[in-house]
Amino acid sequence: MTSFDLRHESRSGIEMGLEVGPQRMKGWPYTDFATGWYVIGYSSEIKPGEVKPAKWFNQDLVVFRTESGQLAVLDAYCPHMGAHLGKPSPNEFGGGVCGENLMCPFHGWLWNTEGENTDIPYRPAQPVRARIERKHVRESDGIILMWFDHSGGPPTYEWPGLPYYGDREDYYPIDTTVDGPHLAKPQFPFENSADPHHFQYVHGSGLDAEFDDYTVDGPFITNTMRLVFGAGREESWLTPNGPVKGYVDNFFWGASLGIARFRIDDLVCIHMPTLTPVDDEHCIFFSTVTGTKEPGDTGDVPQGRSGRMMTAQHWQIRNDFHIWQNMTYRVRPIFTGRAEQTRYAFIRRHFDQFYPNPVYTGQD
Ligand code: FES
Ligand SMILES: [Fe+2]
Repeated sequence: MTSFDLRHESRSGIEMGLEVGPQRMKGWPYTDFATGWYVIGYSSEIKPGEVKPAKWFNQDLVVFRTESGQLAVLDAYCPHMGAHLGKPSPNEFGGGVCGENLMCPFHGWLWNTEGENTDIPYRPAQPVRARIERKHVRESDGIILMWFDHSGGPPTYEWPGLPYYGDREDYYPIDTTVDGPHLAKPQFPFENSADPHHFQYVHGSGLDAEFDDYTVDGPFITNTMRLVFGAGREESWLTPNGPVKGYVDNFFWGASLGIARFRIDDLVCIHMPTLTPVDDEHCIFFSTVTGTKEPGDTGDVPQGRSGRMMTAQHWQIRNDFHIWQNMTYRVRPIFTGRAEQTRYAFIRRHFDQFYPNPVYTGQD
């Protein structure tokens, strides 16, 4: 798949959850989604005064941004008579953002970003106490996050944003692709960080990776992998002066947000591949990437080795999807060797805690 194909196929993310297919992930043991922050789109997709329908976590939702710029996500259906708040009237009579409120297209009731009724136009100054369920949302580095909690609780941690290495001003703006629905689970991209032996077969790398153990801080874990880039080749576009020993720093928050930060001599590339559930089986894939600007480049259009590395991240992760889409999930895999027995087993157990029915806790 070329970069042109990816751009061509990439979609606007917020509404992507409305499209799903019929298949199932075989062997998946969990009864609900993992608690945590999930990417549901990009800030650039929704401007002040805009409203969009969405579907995430089996729930119909409405996403809107007020005239002052505040983003909100509410349950889609109006408590009055059930109209969908994300479907403003096509004739421009009713619905849509009104200042800091969202207007229902059916009878014009106004709802604020907290889901509170602020006005009934034909009964002024007598709003009802009924509320619409509102979601916790954040925006950071141009990425929109929504909190899901299987027990209905509020956020228990914050996402600090992209882990820039050095000065964030030295990086190109984020480059994004969105596609799906996919039969894959949010934690699958992060299992890469515990799987040294798939890089040769899935990603065409010359050697296995070496790993550090994970460092754990509550829902946050991190480790570093060491890889030889350009192994076995005199030169490549990434390694024009021969093989380079590089590093991949992995950062994971819960079982739903993860980042791989590549450091290859003076080039740093940050890739955030995340999957967000639409229903019990399907996820939308958000691939977010940035890289350090080429030496001397003051522009915002990715160039040279950095631009190529950024594009490469978008398509390399697609090689994993080929596996994920067609596999059965082994709750009890045959782990061999120290790396699999300790790190892979560890990361499975770590992710386990974010689900309502842990399948590893209390077992060997
Ligand atoms: S259904 Fe929303 S105002 Fe009547
Ligand atoms: Fe992979």
